[in-house]
Amino acid sequence: MSTRAIILAAGKGTRMKCDLPKVLHTVCGRSIFEWVIEAARAAGADDITVVVGHGAEAVVAALPAGVRAVVQEQQNGTGHATRTALAAMGGVSSDTVLVIPGDSPLFRPDTLTALVSRHHESGGACTLLTTTMPDPTGYGRVVRNEAGVAAIVEERDADEAARSIDEVAVSTYAFAGSALTEALTRLTTRNDQGEEYLTDVVALFAAAGPVATHTIDDHRETLGINSHDQLADAEWVMRERINRRLMAAGVWMQDPTTTYVDATVAIAAGARLYAGVHLEGATSVAAGAVVGPQSFVIDSTVGPGARVWYSVVRGAEIGEGADVGPFASLRPGTTLAEGVKAGTFVEVKASTIGRGSKVPHLSYVGDTTIGEDSNVGAGTITCNYDGFRKHHTTIGSRVFIGSDTMLVAPVEIGDDAVTGAGSVITRDVSPGALAVERSPQKEIPGYAERRARLADSEGE
Ligand code: UD1
Ligand code: MG
Repeated sequence: MSTRAIILAAGKGTRMKCDLPKVLHTVCGRSIFEWVIEAARAAGADDITVVVGHGAEAVVAALPAGVRAVVQEQQNGTGHATRTALAAMGGVSSDTVLVIPGDSPLFRPDTLTALVSRHHESGGACTLLTTTMPDPTGYGRVVRNEAGVAAIVEERDADEAARSIDEVAVSTYAFAGSALTEALTRLTTRNDQGEEYLTDVVALFAAAGPVATHTIDDHRETLGINSHDQLADAEWVMRERINRRLMAAGVWMQDPTTTYVDATVAIAAGARLYAGVHLEGATSVAAGAVVGPQSFVIDSTVGPGARVWYSVVRGAEIGEGADVGPFASLRPGTTLAEGVKAGTFVEVKASTIGRGSKVPHLSYVGDTTIGEDSNVGAGTITCNYDGFRKHHTTIGSRVFIGSDTMLVAPVEIGDDAVTGAGSVITRDVSPGALAVERSPQKEIPGYAERRARLADSEGE
């Protein structure tokens, strides 16, 4: 006996008003779909089948390994979708079948685990996940009688009395496989939408024996995504969960309401996040690192004790104790070693900067390798692009690049070399040499008097 999950995701998601299938929208960096699959796995489902329909191709392409997809050509209702899945799963007779809607990313793994446990305790054919809603409009209502659950009635098929019930069904159930298989053969399409409703199996089971329920207190957990405002609500709830988990684990946050951390991000205890920080993708922040205020870090590593503020960092590795910003842009392929500084209005792309080297102000460093303990003066630019191709710049260790140096790549500056401020360096510089490229400074004495005479004659 095992637990097998069916995820219903063939619906169109008309209200999203966009081409991307609903379940592929993301909540805190993970698709709605991945959240649901993760929760099913955490609840012990070792076999997962997803029912796809609208946008099937894109959804199937995004499926994680080991998840089965079955296409429901016509969306004839949640009962029909479940039947379609069972047909592809082989026999489920002795299994527990968990059914979950594909558009509900907020289920906690604990909730589904509790649903399955409750089902096993009850020993019945069906256990229903329910919650109460302050405004249950649109949801199927759980109708109870003296014996317990009697049926689920859809909003559009409900009478006044049923509409006043605030306990709702949230398309999430644990079933005994054989009982479910049998009950699905008895569904009809006698309802307002002319569809086979999965909810109707509940009345069939209730007629034969008790239907168990597991009721959750926080109805926000059941939120289904049908529109962009619900997607934003889900993001809000998930973000709060992530931030609280991080803070409980020892991460300092100045303002959790403006701290946006994807589920894919790892942050060590002792890291500090100021307000307005976005951390996305495969990003990690080490202990003692300080990020923010106002920074965007994606697919990057922030090393121990490093500091990043008012900056945009993408695909970069920031070493221990490095200092980035304010207003730096680190682009993919950037590696800053220990103690490096990439300061104010500095852009770095596809470059490696060695231990202790500094690029403090107003510079562009692209396709460049810099050794250790070098200093790149304000306004320096590696001219890496000739309009056709990109070229490499190599700067050695202990080099002093004077302010406003143009390094026209390909070019190599040897260890301990110096470039004069304002130079346009087009040829390699030998180790230990000074390279200056400037026209000699001229001086014209008495120029102020000449200007004054000129001004007088213009005035006449
Ligand atoms: C359904 C439930 C309702 C519950 C509500 C919110 C039924 C009849 N009603 O209503 O009791 O309160 O969800 O959880 O089940 N889907 C398919 N194939 C189909 C139809 C739907 O895969 O033919 C999928 C959808 O993609 C969605 C899920 O099933 O993920 C629920 O379908 P939806 O149309 O949203 O049902 P509701 O009318 O919201
Ligand atoms: Mg729905």
